Amino acid sequence: MELDKDIQTTQRGFHCSLCNVNIPNRPSLEDHVKGKKHQHLKRLRAQRKAQEENSVFVSGFKPDTSQTDLKEYFAQFGPVSDVIMDKDKGVYAIVEFSEPQNAQTALAQLQHQFNGLQLRVKPRERKNFKLASRGKPKHTQISLDKLNFELCKATSVNEQMQKVVENFELGDNEKKVRDLLVQLLQEVFTEFFPDCQIVPFGSSVNTFGIHSCDLDLFLDLENTKAFQAHAKSSGSTGENQSEDCHSEDSILSDIDLSTATPTEILELVATILRKCVPGVHKVQTLGTARLPVVKFSHRELNLQGDITINNRLAVRNTRFLQLCSGIDSRLRPLVYTIRLWAKQKQLAGNLSGPGPLLNNYALTLLVIFYLQNRDPVVLPSVNQLKNMACEEEECVIEDWDCTFPCQPFSVPPSKNTEDLGTLLFEFFTFYSKFDFPASLVSLRDGRVLPITDFLRSDEKAVNAAEASSPKPKRSLTPKLGPMNVLDPFEQNHNVAGNLNERTQKNFKRECCEAEKYCRSLQYQRKSAKGKSWGLVRLFAPPSEAGPRSKVETEKVMEVSIPFKAAVLPEHLRAQLASAGKGFRGLWFAKVCSAVQMVFEEILKCSPSEETQTSDLCQSQDKAERDGNEMEVNNNQSAEDTGPQAKGEAGKKRPLITEEGPSTSTVTQAKRPRLDEDVKHPKPVHWTWTQRNYVWAGRRKVRRDLLKTSDETSKPEGGCIDIESRVTQSILEKEEKLQDLLEFQVDAEVVGGNESTKVVLCFHPSHDTAGVFQDFFHFLESFLPKMAETILGRAEDVTEMS
Ligand code: UTP
Repeated sequence: MELDKDIQTTQRGFHCSLCNVNIPNRPSLEDHVKGKKHQHLKRLRAQRKAQEENSVFVSGFKPDTSQTDLKEYFAQFGPVSDVIMDKDKGVYAIVEFSEPQNAQTALAQLQHQFNGLQLRVKPRERKNFKLASRGKPKHTQISLDKLNFELCKATSVNEQMQKVVENFELGDNEKKVRDLLVQLLQEVFTEFFPDCQIVPFGSSVNTFGIHSCDLDLFLDLENTKAFQAHAKSSGSTGENQSEDCHSEDSILSDIDLSTATPTEILELVATILRKCVPGVHKVQTLGTARLPVVKFSHRELNLQGDITINNRLAVRNTRFLQLCSGIDSRLRPLVYTIRLWAKQKQLAGNLSGPGPLLNNYALTLLVIFYLQNRDPVVLPSVNQLKNMACEEEECVIEDWDCTFPCQPFSVPPSKNTEDLGTLLFEFFTFYSKFDFPASLVSLRDGRVLPITDFLRSDEKAVNAAEASSPKPKRSLTPKLGPMNVLDPFEQNHNVAGNLNERTQKNFKRECCEAEKYCRSLQYQRKSAKGKSWGLVRLFAPPSEAGPRSKVETEKVMEVSIPFKAAVLPEHLRAQLASAGKGFRGLWFAKVCSAVQMVFEEILKCSPSEETQTSDLCQSQDKAERDGNEMEVNNNQSAEDTGPQAKGEAGKKRPLITEEGPSTSTVTQAKRPRLDEDVKHPKPVHWTWTQRNYVWAGRRKVRRDLLKTSDETSKPEGGCIDIESRVTQSILEKEEKLQDLLEFQVDAEVVGGNESTKVVLCFHPSHDTAGVFQDFFHFLESFLPKMAETILGRAEDVTEMS
C-alpha cells in the first residue's frame, strides 16, 4: 500500500498527521485510513481548501459600502455565494464565489473600478497550520535594543508584531535539539519503564515557544502499569517467569506503580536522570508543587526541562492551544506581543517579580478569551468547538470533557477581519475595563460568568452527582481570588488562582496605561524623525514608560475595600449567590455595616447630628411602625435579614439592610425600588466626630494588652474585640485632642466596568488641630483590614449594628 501523504513512518510504527494519532502497525493503519474520522477530516479539509480557493480578499472601498453593493459588482466574474465584511470599519471584505475559476477571473483583472474608487483584490490569505518556522536561523537570545531597532524600521504595527514573532519563535534547529533530547529520554526511560511514553507539552510545542523556553515533558506510565500488573499476575501463577523479565524491569521490582505516590515515582525518575542520561545535571524533585515535578538542566544543549507524571490534561490543553493557533493566524503574533509586553511590565512569566505573577498559560488563555469576545468573534468558545468535533474526536480526561476537533479546518473561518494593531489595542481596552474580582473568565462558555454562580457551597452538587455515579469526591468550585480564569477543561482550576490583589491591580493598571498609549499617534504612526513608535514604547519597562496618571500621583483621600470572594464566610457567600445580579448591593450593605462598626464600636467615633445614617434608622423605624415592612429579595429567607429585621425588641436595628443601603427613602422601599437599589445601590454618607488620639500608639497598647491577658481570658471575636479594648484603653488615658475632629465619609460601590470594590472618600470638615492627615494615614490600612475581618466572621455582620 502506498502511504497517504498524511502518514509518516516512525520508529514505533506510523503517525497520521491529519488525525494526530500514532498507529502501531500496517493492519491498524489500513483500518485507520478507511475509518470515519480520517475520511471526515479529509472531506472537511478539501471543503475548506475549496472555500479558500473560491474567495478573494477585497479592500479599498468606502466604509458605507454594503454587502449587496459588493455582491453586485463581483457577480460579473461568476455567482457570488457569500460576502463577509469587516463589521466595525467596513474596510475589508472576503468575497466567496461558487467556483474557483470565478475567483481566478476576478484576480486576473488588473483594475477594479468601484463607485469611483480603485479596489484592491488579492488572493485570500491561507490559514495553514504552520509549526515549522521559515526564514533565517535564529540566535538563541535576542536583546531588546536590537529588537527595538528593527521594530522602528517597520512600516506598521502589524509588521512590528510579525517581527516580534520572527525574533522570538523557536527556530528549526532549536526544535530539532528538543526532539533529540526527547528521543534520548524516551530510550533511557523505556529501559526502566517498559512501554512508557515521553510526551512534550507547553511552550516547546504549543506554537508560542520562545528561545530558551523550558522543555515540559509528561512521562506517561499507563502502559508500564499494565505491563507491571501483567508481570505480577503471570509471576504469581508461575506463567512466563523468565530471567529476562526480572532483569529488564529491575527498577520496577523496587516500586509498585499502582500504589506508589507521585513523589516516590518522581524520586526514581530523578535517579534515572542523574545516573543514566548523559549531559543532565541540576536534577531536583519538587514533590510539594500542585503537580509534583522533577526539574533538570542539560549542559551541552543549554536547556532546562521539567518532567511530570499524571499530567495528561496539560498535554490536551497544549493541543488546544495548537488548534487555536491554527484556526486564526492572528493569535500567534498577538500572544507573542502580549507575552513580551507582560514580561517587560513584570506581570507574567517565570520571573521573580513583585509578588506572584500570571503564568504564561493563563496569559495565553486571557488572549484567547478576549478573541472569543470580539464582534465578530475571532475564535469560538470551547463548547462550540466541542460541537464541531466528530464522534471519534471525543476525549474525556479525569472526567473532564476535553473534546475538540483535532484539525483547524474543522472550524469555519472567522468573519472578523480586524488587523493586528487594532486587536492589540482592543485587548488592552477589554481588560482595562474588566471587573476581575466579580467575574470568572470562562473559555468554555466564551463569556464571563458571574462570581455569584460560584459562591455557594458545592457540597450538594457533589452529593447529587455521587448519588447517580459514585466518583472520587472533588470540589466543583475553583479557588476564587482577585483574578479568576477557569481552565477550559479542568473546570475547577483557576489558572490565575496564585495572583494576589496587588498583581491583579498591576495587570489592570498596565492595561489602562497601554490602552491610553494605543490611542496616541505614536502608537499608530511611524515616526518620520526615526523616534521610537508603535510597540517600542509599549515594551518599555514600567519606570521608563513615563509618569503615572494624575490620579495615581495626586493624593486622593480614598480608601478602597475590594470584593474578595475567597475571604467571605459560607453563609454570606450563599446569600450573595442568591442575590444574583444584586450581589453588589448586598455586599455593599455588608461592607457599610462593617465600616460603621469599625468607626462606631471599634474606634469609638460618634455619628454627627447630620449623618444621614440616623435618617435611615428613623425611616426604618417608621416603616415598621407603619407596618410597611421592607420587602426582601425573593431568594432571601427571613433569617437572612437578621434578628432586627424581625423587630426583635430592645435591639438596635441594622443600619443598613441586606437589600442594599439607601441614605434616604427607606419608607418607599417597595419591591421595584428595592430591586433598583440592589442593582445600583446609592452612595452612603456619614459624618463622624472623634475627640481622642485613637490612632496614636495603638501597637504598643495592643502589645501590652495581649501580654497581660492570658490565653484563656483572650476575648472572643479575636482581633475585633482586642481592637475595641485598645481604643478603650487609649480613651481611658484621657489624652484628648485640642479640638474635636469632624470628618465625612462617602461610600459607594463600583463594579461592572471596574473591579468590584467599595470606595470610601474622606473629607475633613472640622480639623483645627490639623490631625486628620495622620488619622487618615492610619485608616488607609486599618479600615480595609478590620472590615475584612468583620465580613469574614462566621456570624452575620448586621447583628453588630
Ligand atoms: P507555562 O505557564 O510555563 O506556559 O505552562 P508555557 O506556554 O510553557 O510558557 P513558558 O514555559 O513559561 O515559556 C506550561 C504548560 O503547563 C500547563 C499548560 O499545558 C502549559 O502549556 N499548565 C500550566 C496547565 O495545564 N495549567 C496551569 O495552570 C499552568
